[in-house]
Amino acid sequence: MDAAGFERWLKTTMGLDASSVGPGVVERAVAGRMRATASADAAAYWRRLLAQPLEQQELIEAVVVPETWFFRGVEAFDALARAFAPLQADGARTLRLLSLPCSTGEEPYTLAMALIDAGWAPSRLRIDAFDISQRALAKAAHAVYGANSFRGRELGYRERHFRALGHGRWQLSAQARGCVRLHRANVLDIDFLPAQANYDAVFCRNLLIYFDQDTQVRTVGVLARALAPDGLLFVGAAETGLLLSLGYASAQIPMAAAFRRQRTPPPALAAAPEPWRAPALAPLPAPRPRRAAPVARSSAPAAAAAPATSPAAAPDTSLEQARRLADHGAFDRAAELCQNHLRTHGPSAEALYLTGLIHGATGLDARAEDAFRKALYLQPDHTESLMHLALLLDAKGDAAGARLMRQRASRHRGRSG
Ligand SMILES: C[S@@+](CC[C@H](N)C(=O)[O-])C[C@H]1O[C@@H](n2cnc3c(N)ncnc32)[C@H](O)[C@@H]1O
Repeated sequence: MDAAGFERWLKTTMGLDASSVGPGVVERAVAGRMRATASADAAAYWRRLLAQPLEQQELIEAVVVPETWFFRGVEAFDALARAFAPLQADGARTLRLLSLPCSTGEEPYTLAMALIDAGWAPSRLRIDAFDISQRALAKAAHAVYGANSFRGRELGYRERHFRALGHGRWQLSAQARGCVRLHRANVLDIDFLPAQANYDAVFCRNLLIYFDQDTQVRTVGVLARALAPDGLLFVGAAETGLLLSLGYASAQIPMAAAFRRQRTPPPALAAAPEPWRAPALAPLPAPRPRRAAPVARSSAPAAAAAPATSPAAAPDTSLEQARRLADHGAFDRAAELCQNHLRTHGPSAEALYLTGLIHGATGLDARAEDAFRKALYLQPDHTESLMHLALLLDAKGDAAGARLMRQRASRHRGRSG
């Protein structure tokens, strides 16, 4: 049995597209399992694999990428709390959430913390969390975390929801733990969810990037069954393009990668765009401060955002203000501040990117596209503008243009990683 055979088995069993995790990963995992099981050769290990479900789980454990951290993509959690604030105010209904895949628990526990901090009674939160990895789930159940799970500088939530155990270890509160039910499931096993799951929101982030196109489409089908008709589906920033082609519309929440089901039937699955690939084992993002606001600052180099003219003595905070206003829905005023900033300081990728986000959030897609293109003219490697432009191009049916933008983003990310 050659490496390709093991790759095929992993694809059929768990959807893994071997090319998404980088060259040699499957080969190394198989070699490691051969050593651990003292298999004489690949053929012997292959026979063992097919015969022993426990060994199958071991090989799966060896290839999964459990990378995750608390408040990863903070905008999504802020958006969720805001979207369901009316439901929170109006009484007794439980909020039903799905985190799939949940990995070592940081994502579903973040859901619990974010909503408790937004005023939800823990008894009204039901968060189901699934993952294929037993090892990740065991860690989630233990709920003790180290520094790698706390990235970013705004760690107020840690003071509120964790107890320090010493030696850099933190135990999550029983209150937040109590909101989450952990289960093992393979997203490809169609029966793992109840027929009418009806979740208010589904978080399926950073899973589709590891799948080939067929498996992505199949998984989105599973999610569709799980989501309430008006529910919100959150995916990873790199996974948005596919959803637009499968009957979902952007929920127009800047940077949250949130979608709702479209009322009109989705186009034929065959029309799905090629999946955009994150670089294999995408590099960790630089730590970012946790913000309450969903319109994210771009990771563009500071130079790109620097004033074209010599800076005044007091730092100009108008873009910061614009961002805050946009987060609170004051889009007109936010757009005005961006315009003033552009007039005063000259064009910058940062101000144009923010302008694009604001236009996008208010449905002015043509203007948003124009702003993102100008940002890219100034700074061709502005990844966020590339990704948002790709979304807009997808939405207007320009799949080839969108693919190009994603490829550019992928190239730049690869270089900066
Ligand atoms: C990168 S983590 C994502 C965790 C979290 N959603 C996040 O965005 O931080 C990917 C997880 O997907 C899980 N996974 C991979 N294939 C799966 C499958 N077929 N069914 C369920 N979970 C799967 C892995 O075990 C891993 O924990």
